[in-house]
Amino acid sequence: MCGIIGYIGNSKAAPILIEGLKRLEYRGYDSAGISTIDKNNIIVEKDIGKINEIENKINFSGLDGNIGISHCRWATHGSVTKENAHPHLDCSGNISIVHNGIIENFSELKQKLIKNGHKFSSSTDTEVIAHLIEDNYNGDIEKATRNALKQIEGSYALGVICSKEPDKLIAARNESPLILGLGKDENFIASDVPAILKYTNKVIYLENNEMAVLTKNNYLIKDINGNKINKKIVEIDWDSELAEKSGYEHFMLKEIHEQPRAITETLNGRIENGNINIKEELNLSNEELQKISRIVIVACGTSWHAALVGEFMLEELAKIPVEIEYASEFRYRNPVINENTLVIAISQSGETADTLSAIREAKKRNTKVVSIVNVKGSSISRESDSVLYTYAGPEIGVASTKAFTAQLVVLYLFTLFMSGLKKSLDDEKIKELLEKLRKLPLQMETLLNDNKEIKRISDIYKDKHNALFLGRGVNFPIALEGALKLKEVSYIHAEGYPAAEMKHGPIALIDKNMPVVFIATKDIYTYKKVLGNIQEIKARDGIVIAIATEGDEEIKKIADYVIEIPKTLYILSSILAVIPLQLLAYYVATDRNLDPDKPRNLSKSVTVE
Ligand code: F6R
Repeated sequence: MCGIIGYIGNSKAAPILIEGLKRLEYRGYDSAGISTIDKNNIIVEKDIGKINEIENKINFSGLDGNIGISHCRWATHGSVTKENAHPHLDCSGNISIVHNGIIENFSELKQKLIKNGHKFSSSTDTEVIAHLIEDNYNGDIEKATRNALKQIEGSYALGVICSKEPDKLIAARNESPLILGLGKDENFIASDVPAILKYTNKVIYLENNEMAVLTKNNYLIKDINGNKINKKIVEIDWDSELAEKSGYEHFMLKEIHEQPRAITETLNGRIENGNINIKEELNLSNEELQKISRIVIVACGTSWHAALVGEFMLEELAKIPVEIEYASEFRYRNPVINENTLVIAISQSGETADTLSAIREAKKRNTKVVSIVNVKGSSISRESDSVLYTYAGPEIGVASTKAFTAQLVVLYLFTLFMSGLKKSLDDEKIKELLEKLRKLPLQMETLLNDNKEIKRISDIYKDKHNALFLGRGVNFPIALEGALKLKEVSYIHAEGYPAAEMKHGPIALIDKNMPVVFIATKDIYTYKKVLGNIQEIKARDGIVIAIATEGDEEIKKIADYVIEIPKTLYILSSILAVIPLQLLAYYVATDRNLDPDKPRNLSKSVTVE
């Protein structure tokens, strides 16, 4: 959804901006650009392609100046061209801006500006902002930006510099995320924390309709009417190392391997003497918790798959009825929720626009919202009644991996907590179930240390055009997640289905060219039935790759390939079973010479609806 970063200080701005932009590239990578002020002149360099590709043509870091803004684009209005890349200038070339968001009334504003003599050089919605600021400029860039913003409808995270006031960096936010980073004799603006983490961990989250004026050793935050606002400084506890590849070829692979650590951190301090210690974080009274008679979980994409696993856990163990909603659909229906319903919102980024809108819809109906979020201080965490954080650390690869398993762990903890409260499980049983959870990080390590078979399978099947992923019960969402991972990073068409549903249509696709991945771990519910489903595929010459419980000899007799996962509870098998599927997607993508960290057309943080 585009990434922006801005710098003002004593250092040369360009290298800091480019390095920061590389950490934001997961937000958009169809084009990139930078603008600095050198000797009272605005300089702009931009082009299409990924930052590394552009750097081969343009010496971005060579640009002089101690103030600047930069942008990586995920196109919304206007195709991917050099002209449409940001920064955008006004007619005079004195004002330069970068923008993340959508200006909804840009067409009408553009017509007016053209009538007033403004010349446009791109077909973006963004460029109108530069010209509007120019129209309002009277020697005060802060005021001009404020007056321009008053005419704008839509979402924006905005960075503005002006050659006539080279000691000021202006920032503004409405609906798109934007933070200020506060350093020593230098200040930053950025779409997300990893961009500035190397320089400072002190950040301020701008809210809607807030603006900031940054100088190298000061900052001032105001509302859209110019009233001063005091805001809390948040200290981020992420280690800047986590935002580096640390020897891995891609962030996706590094993040897959970080899962044992992510789970350990997520559990840290939440289990004490066999009890689940999340009551304080939940911030709901016993009475509020007791009256929950139904839970609705809203989320998108991978987080939505986590929600489906959560539904299984909560209904199975806590005996609370659960419904799962696509956040994007929830607000456009008339959801039947009331004060006895709890809404849970799941989001890695905490900035997904659809999920944020769903939360607002729930709150309008007086329903409490608990969110499961990975990014501290993000919009979703701020707007929820309480937050259960996943401590997966920054997730930079576009395809979500470690955040997903951390979400499942939080859902499991919440389930056991509610099971205790609702007395659907006794204390002994809860302790026993927690013990199995504690073993997961070690079991994950074992799984991650032995991935030769997955690599071999990917080498054989990397050129296939289609794949099916099948699973039942708690592993049906894992089938969906496996299919999503494969399609988003390798561009192979993949579908996930409940294994038994296959007979009702998808089985028509099976022939000798179709790889079918079964999540077929041992359980008392459906294991035998899944074996039957595998036989159905084999009878039609399909290729069967089974994710099975270690030591399962029966499945080895019928599947073409078996990837074993360590023994655990059925309900926790989903957390282990997804790991080989993440690795499979990763290896297939790299075998096809694709960059799994930056799949085409995708952006990590979807901040438009
Ligand atoms: C897929 C993926 C997306 C996100 C979705 C929601 O790998 O990452 O499907 O899960 O865009 O994002 P969050 O969790 O940040 O709300």
